[in-house]
Amino acid sequence: MSISGKTKLCCVIGDPVEHTLSPTIQNAAFKHLKLDFIFLAFKVKPQELENAIQGIRVLGIHGINVTMPHKKAVTKLLDELDPTAKFVSSVNTILNRNGRLCGFNTDGIGALNALKENGVNLSGKKVLLLGAGSAAKAIALALAKEVEQLFILNRTHEKAIELKESLNRFSGRKVTSDIISHEAIQRYLQKSDILVNATSAGMHPNVNQDLVVPDWLRPDLTVMDIIYSPLETKLAKEAKAAGARVISGVEMLIYQGAASFEIWTGHKAPLEVMRQAALNRLAKFG
Ligand SMILES: NC(=O)c1ccc[n+]([C@@H]2O[C@H](COP(=O)([O-])OP(=O)(O)OC[C@H]3O[C@@H](n4cnc5c(N)ncnc54)[C@H](OP(=O)(O)O)[C@@H]3O)[C@@H](O)[C@H]2O)c1
Repeated sequence: MSISGKTKLCCVIGDPVEHTLSPTIQNAAFKHLKLDFIFLAFKVKPQELENAIQGIRVLGIHGINVTMPHKKAVTKLLDELDPTAKFVSSVNTILNRNGRLCGFNTDGIGALNALKENGVNLSGKKVLLLGAGSAAKAIALALAKEVEQLFILNRTHEKAIELKESLNRFSGRKVTSDIISHEAIQRYLQKSDILVNATSAGMHPNVNQDLVVPDWLRPDLTVMDIIYSPLETKLAKEAKAAGARVISGVEMLIYQGAASFEIWTGHKAPLEVMRQAALNRLAKFG
């Protein structure tokens, strides 16, 4: 890689960022396509976010991934939001268009492509979505336009109700919401073809947290757990053991990263290169 005065800088900002996979995935893609881009990670504390965004403007940083805890707060500091980022009130990708900072959210398209590209047909399907946080909102918006019915369960019921109401207004589809409980998960799962876990239950270090009782999982179910650390969650293992089709969180990670890459470079993302880079890194460091 040869860095010059013309090299375009992309980065991820968050706190913590030490374990982010974005530099691994994006640099592998830049290198593969011989693009004059480089990707770095910057730790930005919440109280420094405004200064960091000002720095991005001053330094002319070209593309930015935004991760926890800044995805919501950053929406107020940008010049433009695309309709998805506006709906979700959360940005994970910024493009610097000649000094104008434009915010996008690629989580929804990432999840949608992870399902579709792994052979899941969404048309006429009933989906149970666990969670109503930032990723769940983006996924719900993407799915509401494609599936027959969407059931949303969340620990904080008000957030699920709010999401249901805005989706019903926005997509014109019938969305149902309820509070997460064992009884509700079992009841809605019986009626569903696809289960998506978009909560952080089961994420490292709480790897034994599991909202779904293994006995409720069936071979005719598709299960996507968007958590990618650990690489295979407890839910994913149990779903596999029950004979269900399992889509891993790494797939969503790749497709949302690919969407960011395409926004920054205008080139089609080399998916297989990005997937291998992510898997190699996860296998080495978890
Ligand atoms: N694969 C990917 O590309 C990708 C992309 C984005 C995020 N993620 C992963 O998705 C997960 C959620 O991220 P996010 O950005 O949406 O976070 P977030 O906005 O903080 O939302 C967290 C969600 O998890 C729920 N939750 C947390 N602990 C729970 C528990 N013990 N029981 C039941 N519900 C629980 C929260 O419920 P309340 O509303 O009640 O708090 C909320 O719905 C994280 O693990 C993140 O790493 C993956």
